Amino acid sequence: MLFPDYRPRRLRQNENFRRMIRETRLSVDNLILPMFSVEGKGVRNPIDSMPGHYQLSVDNVVKEAKAARDMGIPAVMLFGLPDRKDALATSAYAKDGIVQKTVRTLKKKVKDLVVITDVCLCEYTDHGHCGVVEGDTIDNDASLDLLARTALSHAQAGADMVAPSDMMDGRVAEIRDALDQNGFASTPIMSYAAKYCSAFYYPFRQAAESAPKFGDRRTYQMDPANSLEAVREVAMDVEEGADIIMVKPALAYLDVISRVREEIDLPIAAYSVSGEFSMIKAADKLGWLDGKKIMMESLVAIKRAGADMILTYFAKEAAKELRKD
Ligand code: PBG
Repeated sequence: MLFPDYRPRRLRQNENFRRMIRETRLSVDNLILPMFSVEGKGVRNPIDSMPGHYQLSVDNVVKEAKAARDMGIPAVMLFGLPDRKDALATSAYAKDGIVQKTVRTLKKKVKDLVVITDVCLCEYTDHGHCGVVEGDTIDNDASLDLLARTALSHAQAGADMVAPSDMMDGRVAEIRDALDQNGFASTPIMSYAAKYCSAFYYPFRQAAESAPKFGDRRTYQMDPANSLEAVREVAMDVEEGADIIMVKPALAYLDVISRVREEIDLPIAAYSVSGEFSMIKAADKLGWLDGKKIMMESLVAIKRAGADMILTYFAKEAAKELRKD
């Protein structure tokens, strides 16, 4: 079809036409709100680089989670900041660990909300790596048991879904096995399947106090230059029993989301990470762009690329915008 026979502008001339032909629709159903839980009571420490986000004690997590639920947000993702860190991340899988306590309280006090837990060791190890350290390397196989114990303890505390983000090889199978053998065959796994070694996590590491004390995460997280490898990583997690697979970060990896969408028929989550949030907030604060518009455009783009759900620090703000429509 060529001009002048075809004029694409015919169907752009008013909002009703535009609504009728709109291909992608963002809904509050697609949003998941990440939250940071700390020990204590009445704690609400602002995270400087992430305006509107806080390290919250359990009582305040409950308030925040209720507010999210009341806005129609179906799920939250919990991260924990423990009091105590050690080489083997023992507070990651302790019965009274911070995430376990928070989940127990949330499930008691907030109905109709899916509670997902991030399963990783980096917030709980004194060295800040996502697995067990042997000399100066991260020992893959020695980490698997600890990750499985962590996931199981989250399920025992009442988590509706567990989300391993460590990027150790084989952890999805190990976690599936531990869940199945202990009566949690119905607990789904959302696997951070294609997780890149990204500088976009910078604000998060301040929020979660989880920056590695030596080296970086390049030996376990993916090289940003690779996308074929993402397909292999995702296929592997599907084989191992993942129920939802995730691509992370989101905005700089839309091609990866789109590629994975073509290859895999499971639901796809995209994690729009802390740095994506902070960049928009910073530019908005400077008056250099319209933060709200960039937020909505970015979220719709992530969905257009093929994500079914989006983990985003904008969840509440976006829910508010969507309600206005
Ligand atoms: C834990 C984890 C990280 C994020 C989610 N889970 C940090 C990391 O891998 O260094 C990053 C989330 C964000 O930046 O918003 N491994």
